[in-house]
Amino acid sequence: HTRKRIVAGNWKMNCSRTEAIRLASAIVTMYDAIDNVELLICIPQIHLADISKLLINTGVLLGAQDAHWEDKGAYTGEISASMLTDYLVSHLLVGHSERREMFADDNQRVAKKFAAALKNNLKPILCVGETLQQREQGATFEIIKSQCQAVIDEVGIGAFANSYMAYEPVWAIGTGMTATPQQAQEVHAEIRSWLAQQDESIAARLPILYGGSMNAENAESLLVQPDIDGGLIGGASLKVEDFLKIYSAAG
Ligand code: G3H
Repeated sequence: HTRKRIVAGNWKMNCSRTEAIRLASAIVTMYDAIDNVELLICIPQIHLADISKLLINTGVLLGAQDAHWEDKGAYTGEISASMLTDYLVSHLLVGHSERREMFADDNQRVAKKFAAALKNNLKPILCVGETLQQREQGATFEIIKSQCQAVIDEVGIGAFANSYMAYEPVWAIGTGMTATPQQAQEVHAEIRSWLAQQDESIAARLPILYGGSMNAENAESLLVQPDIDGGLIGGASLKVEDFLKIYSAAG
Protein backbone atom coordinates (compact mmCIF):
# COMPACT_ATOMS: atom_id res chain seq x y z
CA HIS A 1 0.00 0.00 0.00
CA THR A 2 1.42 3.36 -0.98
CA ARG A 3 -1.57 5.41 0.12
CA LYS A 4 -1.99 6.79 3.60
CA ARG A 5 -4.09 4.43 5.71
CA ILE A 6 -6.49 5.27 8.47
CA VAL A 7 -8.53 3.39 11.05
CA ALA A 8 -11.37 5.54 12.34
CA GLY A 9 -13.72 4.80 15.18
CA ASN A 10 -17.22 6.25 15.04
CA TRP A 11 -18.62 6.18 18.55
CA LYS A 12 -22.02 7.40 17.29
CA MET A 13 -24.31 8.44 20.20
CA ASN A 14 -22.56 6.34 22.84
CA CYS A 15 -20.59 6.90 26.04
CA SER A 16 -21.29 8.95 29.13
CA ARG A 17 -18.60 11.45 30.05
CA THR A 18 -16.94 8.92 32.37
CA GLU A 19 -17.10 6.15 29.77
CA ALA A 20 -15.72 8.44 27.08
CA ILE A 21 -12.74 9.44 29.20
CA ARG A 22 -12.12 5.82 30.16
CA LEU A 23 -12.26 4.59 26.56
CA ALA A 24 -10.06 7.36 25.14
CA SER A 25 -7.53 6.92 27.96
CA ALA A 26 -7.36 3.19 27.30
CA ILE A 27 -6.76 3.78 23.59
CA VAL A 28 -3.98 6.25 24.31
CA THR A 29 -2.31 3.92 26.82
CA MET A 30 -2.57 0.73 24.83
CA TYR A 31 -1.93 1.83 21.27
CA ASP A 32 1.34 1.32 19.40
CA ALA A 33 1.67 3.79 16.56
CA ILE A 34 2.20 2.23 13.12
CA ASP A 35 4.01 4.26 10.46
CA ASN A 36 1.67 5.75 7.89
CA VAL A 37 -1.50 4.44 9.55
CA GLU A 38 -3.57 7.09 11.29
CA LEU A 39 -5.76 6.30 14.27
CA LEU A 40 -8.82 8.51 14.63
CA ILE A 41 -11.82 8.62 16.95
CA CYS A 42 -15.00 10.46 15.96
CA ILE A 43 -16.80 11.16 19.20
CA PRO A 44 -19.97 12.91 20.37
CA GLN A 45 -19.45 16.68 20.34
CA ILE A 46 -20.23 17.10 24.02
CA HIS A 47 -17.08 15.15 24.92
CA LEU A 48 -14.72 17.08 22.66
CA ALA A 49 -13.38 19.38 25.37
CA ASP A 50 -12.45 16.50 27.69
CA ILE A 51 -11.08 14.19 25.04
CA SER A 52 -9.12 16.78 23.10
CA LYS A 53 -7.07 17.47 26.25
CA LEU A 54 -6.46 13.77 26.67
CA LEU A 55 -5.19 13.30 23.12
CA ILE A 56 -2.64 16.13 23.04
CA ASN A 57 0.74 14.79 21.82
CA THR A 58 -0.48 11.20 21.70
CA GLY A 59 -0.74 10.85 17.94
CA VAL A 60 -4.37 9.74 18.25
CA LEU A 61 -6.51 12.04 16.09
CA LEU A 62 -9.85 13.55 16.95
CA GLY A 63 -12.86 13.77 14.67
CA ALA A 64 -16.47 14.87 14.85
CA GLN A 65 -19.50 13.07 13.44
CA ASP A 66 -21.30 16.00 11.84
CA ALA A 67 -21.33 19.80 11.63
CA HIS A 68 -23.48 22.53 10.17
CA TRP A 69 -22.25 24.20 6.98
CA GLU A 70 -22.69 27.80 8.18
CA ASP A 71 -20.09 29.30 10.53
CA LYS A 72 -22.72 30.70 12.90
CA GLY A 73 -26.30 31.86 13.07
CA ALA A 74 -29.83 30.98 14.09
CA TYR A 75 -29.57 27.18 13.84
CA THR A 76 -30.79 25.98 17.21
CA GLY A 77 -29.10 22.82 18.36
CA GLU A 78 -26.40 22.81 15.69
CA ILE A 79 -22.61 23.07 15.88
CA SER A 80 -20.50 24.61 13.11
CA ALA A 81 -17.36 23.21 11.56
CA SER A 82 -15.50 26.32 12.65
CA MET A 83 -16.46 25.71 16.29
CA LEU A 84 -14.91 22.26 16.10
CA THR A 85 -11.50 23.68 15.29
CA ASP A 86 -11.19 25.08 18.83
CA TYR A 87 -10.98 21.50 20.09
CA LEU A 88 -8.11 20.10 18.00
CA VAL A 89 -10.58 18.33 15.76
CA SER A 90 -8.86 17.38 12.50
CA HIS A 91 -11.46 15.20 10.74
CA LEU A 92 -15.18 15.40 10.07
CA LEU A 93 -17.55 12.64 9.00
CA VAL A 94 -19.96 13.94 6.38
CA GLY A 95 -22.96 12.16 4.99
CA HIS A 96 -22.98 9.19 7.31
CA SER A 97 -25.91 7.01 6.27
CA GLU A 98 -27.59 7.48 9.65
CA ARG A 99 -27.62 11.22 9.03
CA ARG A 100 -28.79 10.77 5.47
CA GLU A 101 -31.56 8.46 6.61
CA MET A 102 -32.76 10.08 9.84
CA PHE A 103 -31.61 13.70 9.77
CA ALA A 104 -32.37 14.91 6.27
CA ASP A 105 -28.78 15.01 5.04
CA ASP A 106 -29.36 14.85 1.31
CA ASN A 107 -26.57 15.06 -1.28
CA GLN A 108 -26.73 18.87 -1.42
CA ARG A 109 -26.46 19.33 2.33
CA VAL A 110 -23.68 16.80 2.50
CA ALA A 111 -21.82 18.71 -0.21
CA LYS A 112 -22.18 21.96 1.76
CA LYS A 113 -20.92 20.27 4.92
CA PHE A 114 -17.98 18.86 2.97
CA ALA A 115 -17.12 22.34 1.70
CA ALA A 116 -17.44 23.80 5.21
CA ALA A 117 -15.03 21.19 6.53
CA LEU A 118 -12.41 22.05 3.91
CA LYS A 119 -12.86 25.77 4.52
CA ASN A 120 -12.10 25.18 8.20
CA ASN A 121 -9.11 22.94 7.50
CA LEU A 122 -10.89 19.80 8.65
CA LYS A 123 -10.40 16.68 6.57
CA PRO A 124 -13.81 15.48 5.46
CA ILE A 125 -14.55 11.77 5.36
CA LEU A 126 -17.32 11.46 2.80
CA CYS A 127 -19.53 8.47 3.59
CA VAL A 128 -21.23 6.82 0.64
CA GLY A 129 -23.12 3.59 0.16
CA GLU A 130 -26.23 1.85 -1.07
CA THR A 131 -29.18 0.30 0.73
CA LEU A 132 -29.99 -3.38 0.31
CA GLN A 133 -32.87 -2.52 -2.00
CA GLN A 134 -30.62 -0.38 -4.19
CA ARG A 135 -28.05 -3.19 -4.36
CA GLU A 136 -30.69 -5.70 -5.33
CA GLN A 137 -31.90 -3.35 -8.06
CA GLY A 138 -28.36 -3.14 -9.42
CA ALA A 139 -28.20 0.56 -8.57
CA THR A 140 -25.22 0.42 -6.20
CA PHE A 141 -22.81 2.36 -8.32
CA GLU A 142 -25.34 4.87 -9.61
CA ILE A 143 -26.15 5.81 -6.02
CA ILE A 144 -22.51 6.14 -5.03
CA LYS A 145 -21.72 8.18 -8.14
CA SER A 146 -24.51 10.64 -7.37
CA GLN A 147 -23.30 10.93 -3.77
CA CYS A 148 -19.79 11.76 -5.01
CA GLN A 149 -20.96 13.95 -7.90
CA ALA A 150 -22.85 16.30 -5.56
CA VAL A 151 -19.58 17.02 -3.76
CA ILE A 152 -17.70 17.47 -7.04
CA ASP A 153 -20.39 19.89 -8.25
CA GLU A 154 -20.00 21.94 -5.07
CA VAL A 155 -16.23 21.88 -4.61
CA GLY A 156 -14.70 20.47 -7.81
CA ILE A 157 -12.71 17.27 -8.22
CA GLY A 158 -9.99 18.90 -6.09
CA ALA A 159 -12.37 18.12 -3.23
CA PHE A 160 -10.82 14.69 -3.03
CA ALA A 161 -7.22 15.85 -2.89
CA ASN A 162 -7.33 16.47 0.84
CA SER A 163 -10.07 14.23 2.09
CA TYR A 164 -11.13 10.64 2.57
CA MET A 165 -13.99 8.52 1.43
CA ALA A 166 -15.73 5.75 3.34
CA TYR A 167 -17.73 3.12 1.53
CA GLU A 168 -20.41 1.88 3.88
CA PRO A 169 -23.07 -0.38 2.43
CA VAL A 170 -26.12 0.56 4.50
CA TRP A 171 -27.14 -3.09 4.82
CA ALA A 172 -23.83 -3.86 6.53
CA ILE A 173 -23.99 -1.16 9.19
CA GLY A 174 -24.63 -2.47 12.68
CA THR A 175 -26.13 -5.66 11.25
CA GLY A 176 -23.21 -8.06 11.55
CA MET A 177 -23.63 -8.61 7.78
CA THR A 178 -20.19 -7.46 6.62
CA ALA A 179 -19.65 -7.04 2.90
CA THR A 180 -17.33 -9.77 1.66
CA PRO A 181 -13.81 -8.56 0.89
CA GLN A 182 -14.61 -9.13 -2.81
CA GLN A 183 -17.84 -7.10 -2.67
CA ALA A 184 -16.10 -4.24 -0.90
CA GLN A 185 -13.00 -4.32 -3.13
CA GLU A 186 -15.20 -4.26 -6.22
CA VAL A 187 -16.95 -1.06 -5.15
CA HIS A 188 -13.75 0.60 -3.93
CA ALA A 189 -12.04 -0.12 -7.24
CA GLU A 190 -15.03 1.17 -9.16
CA ILE A 191 -15.05 4.44 -7.18
CA ARG A 192 -11.35 4.86 -7.78
CA SER A 193 -11.50 4.20 -11.51
CA TRP A 194 -14.49 6.53 -11.91
CA LEU A 195 -12.58 9.31 -10.11
CA ALA A 196 -9.46 8.53 -12.15
CA GLN A 197 -11.33 9.47 -15.32
CA GLN A 198 -11.52 12.96 -13.84
CA ASP A 199 -8.14 13.15 -12.11
CA GLU A 200 -5.78 10.22 -12.09
CA SER A 201 -3.41 11.37 -9.38
CA ILE A 202 -6.17 12.44 -6.97
CA ALA A 203 -7.86 9.07 -7.44
CA ALA A 204 -4.61 7.19 -6.87
CA ARG A 205 -3.95 9.04 -3.62
CA LEU A 206 -7.46 9.06 -2.11
CA PRO A 207 -7.78 6.77 0.92
CA ILE A 208 -11.05 4.84 0.69
CA LEU A 209 -12.15 3.23 3.96
CA TYR A 210 -14.59 0.39 4.35
CA GLY A 211 -17.29 0.53 7.02
CA GLY A 212 -20.04 -1.86 8.03
CA SER A 213 -19.66 -4.50 10.72
CA MET A 214 -15.88 -4.48 10.49
CA ASN A 215 -14.47 -6.21 13.55
CA ALA A 216 -11.32 -7.75 14.97
CA GLU A 217 -11.97 -11.03 13.17
CA ASN A 218 -12.79 -9.85 9.65
CA ALA A 219 -10.65 -6.69 9.49
CA GLU A 220 -7.56 -8.26 8.01
CA SER A 221 -9.34 -9.93 5.11
CA LEU A 222 -10.84 -6.57 4.16
CA LEU A 223 -7.73 -4.50 4.75
CA VAL A 224 -5.50 -6.65 2.53
CA GLN A 225 -7.62 -5.73 -0.50
CA PRO A 226 -5.69 -3.40 -2.82
CA ASP A 227 -8.26 -0.58 -2.79
CA ILE A 228 -9.32 -0.76 0.86
CA ASP A 229 -7.18 1.74 2.73
CA GLY A 230 -8.66 1.56 6.18
CA GLY A 231 -11.83 1.17 8.17
CA LEU A 232 -14.65 3.20 9.65
CA ILE A 233 -15.62 1.23 12.71
CA GLY A 234 -18.83 1.63 14.68
CA GLY A 235 -19.65 -1.02 17.29
CA ALA A 236 -16.16 -2.49 17.52
CA SER A 237 -14.62 0.93 18.16
CA LEU A 238 -16.25 0.96 21.60
CA LYS A 239 -14.12 -2.01 22.71
CA VAL A 240 -10.53 -0.98 23.06
CA GLU A 241 -8.95 -4.39 22.37
CA ASP A 242 -11.05 -4.96 19.25
CA PHE A 243 -10.46 -1.46 17.96
CA LEU A 244 -6.69 -1.72 18.39
CA LYS A 245 -6.64 -5.16 16.78
CA ILE A 246 -8.28 -3.63 13.73
CA TYR A 247 -5.69 -0.85 13.83
CA SER A 248 -2.86 -3.44 13.88
CA ALA A 249 -4.45 -5.26 10.96
CA ALA A 250 -4.12 -2.07 8.90
CA GLY A 251 -0.33 -1.99 9.29
O1 G3H B 1 -19.48 4.62 10.98
C1 G3H B 1 -19.43 3.41 11.16
C2 G3H B 1 -20.32 2.53 10.46
O2 G3H B 1 -21.62 3.03 10.43
C3 G3H B 1 -20.21 1.09 10.82
O3 G3H B 1 -20.86 0.77 12.00
O4 G3H B 1 -19.25 -1.03 12.58
O5 G3H B 1 -21.33 -0.71 13.92
O6 G3H B 1 -21.44 -1.62 11.58
P1 G3H B 1 -20.73 -0.74 12.56
